[in-house]
Amino acid sequence: MEGFLLRNRDIKGLHSLEVYRKHGGYDALKKALAMPPEDIVSMVVESELRGRGGAGFPAGMKWKFLPADRSKKRYLICNADEGEPGTFKDRQIMEFDPHLLIEGMTIAAYAIGACLGFIYIRGEYDWIAKVLVRAIKEAEDNGLSGSNILGTGYQFCIDVFRGAGSYICGEETALIESIEGKAGRPRLKPPFPAAYGLFGEPTVIHNVATIASIPFIIENGPEAFKEMGKPGSYGTELFGVCGHVNKPGVYEYPMGMSLRKLIYEVAGGIKGGKKLKAVIPGGLSAPVLRADEIDVTMDFESLLAAGSVLGTGGIIVLDEDVSMPHVAQKTAKFFAHESCGECTPCREGTNVIKFLMDRIIAGQGAPDDIAQIQRLCRYIRGSTICALGEAAAMSVGTMVKKFRGEFESLLTR
Ligand SMILES: Cc1cc2nc3c(=O)[nH]c(=O)nc-3n(C[C@H](O)[C@H](O)[C@H](O)COP(=O)(O)O)c2cc1C
Repeated sequence: MEGFLLRNRDIKGLHSLEVYRKHGGYDALKKALAMPPEDIVSMVVESELRGRGGAGFPAGMKWKFLPADRSKKRYLICNADEGEPGTFKDRQIMEFDPHLLIEGMTIAAYAIGACLGFIYIRGEYDWIAKVLVRAIKEAEDNGLSGSNILGTGYQFCIDVFRGAGSYICGEETALIESIEGKAGRPRLKPPFPAAYGLFGEPTVIHNVATIASIPFIIENGPEAFKEMGKPGSYGTELFGVCGHVNKPGVYEYPMGMSLRKLIYEVAGGIKGGKKLKAVIPGGLSAPVLRADEIDVTMDFESLLAAGSVLGTGGIIVLDEDVSMPHVAQKTAKFFAHESCGECTPCREGTNVIKFLMDRIIAGQGAPDDIAQIQRLCRYIRGSTICALGEAAAMSVGTMVKKFRGEFESLLTR
C-alpha cells in the first residue's frame, strides 16, 4: 500500500459526511469508543507513530506523559498552522478530507480524556477553516461530534481557531499562548504542555498528519501501520515537492522513500532539463543537501545521518541557475521577520545575519562577513527557548558552509 492519508483523494465530494461514511469513514471511531481508552493509547504506542509536525516525537509517549489523574480537565490541540515555507501538506487533508481529521481528533481525545479540542489553523487558510467548520457541524448534527457521540455518552467538541499569520504561532507553546489571547511567544519548557498546557491544564498537541494517521491505526492495528516505512520511521509521509520540478505536488509514500526517486520520477525531474543544484528536504528549516547528497531515503534517521532533517517533509528543489547567497538572503529575511523577539540571540542574531546577507548581495560585504555569519549561527544554536533560532542558524549556516565559494565571490572589499 502506498498510503492511506490521501488514498481517497480522488473521490468526488469526500469532504461531505455522506461520502466519507460511504468509504468507511467513522468506522474507526465506532471501534475506538467500544474499547477502554487505555487500549487506544497502547495501540498508538505500539504503532510507534512519530509526530509529523517536524520534531518526530513519538505520539504515544506524549500521551503517556499526561498526569495519571484522569479527572482533571485536558485539552487536545491540532496544529494546523503550517507556516513553514515549502510546507503545504496539511491543507490537503483538511480541505479534501476534513472528516478524517475530525475522526482522528475524536479518537485521540477519547484516548486521552479530553472534552474540548482546537484546530489552530493559519489565518491564510480561511477557506479551509470554513470547510472544517462545516464538517464539524455535519459531524455534530449526526452524533459524531459534540455531546453523546454515537450514543455512548462521550462528549468532545472541536473549535476552529484562526491564527493571524505568524510563523512562531506554530511552535506549540506560542500557539497555546495565542489561543489564550496573548502574544504568540514560546514558553520555557519544562513544564511541557502535557503537564501545563492550555489554560494551565494538561494538553496534547499534534500536527494534522499525525492525528489523521490515528483512524488507520485503530481500524487496521499497529502492525498494519508498521508494514509501511522502516524501523524508527513507520507509516507514510506526505511529501510536498516544490521548486524547480516538472510536477510539483503533495505525494504520499511510505517513510524511507528515495529522495532521488521523489524528485526525478514522482515529481517529473528538473524543469527545462536543467541540472539539480541543491535540495532543502524538510521545509525551509532543514539544512540544505547538495545535488551529490540526494541518494538518501526520506525518514527521520537517514536524513539525520545525512546532516539534515525530515522536518515537515516539504522538499524544495533548486536548479543550477539558483544563486545560493540569494536563497540564504531570503531565508535570513524570513527568520528575522518571524522571530518573536523573546530571546536575544534569536532576535539580534537573525537580524544581524539578514543585515550581513543584504550587504553581501548588494556587493558591499566585508571580508569577515561570512565568518561573522557562521559565528552568529553557532552563537544562536542552543541558546534560545524555542527552535526558531536553531532553524535559522541551521539552514543559513549550512548554505554558507556548503556553497561558501558563491558567497566569497560576492565579497568585494
Ligand atoms: C517556529 C516553529 C514553528 C512550528 N510550526 C509548526 C506548524 O506549523 N505545524 C506543526 O504541526 N508543528 C509546528 N511546529 C512544531 C510544534 O512545536 C510541535 O512540535 C508539533 O505541533 C507537535 O506535533 P507532532 O507531535 O504531531 O509532531 C513548529 C515549531 C517551531 C519551533
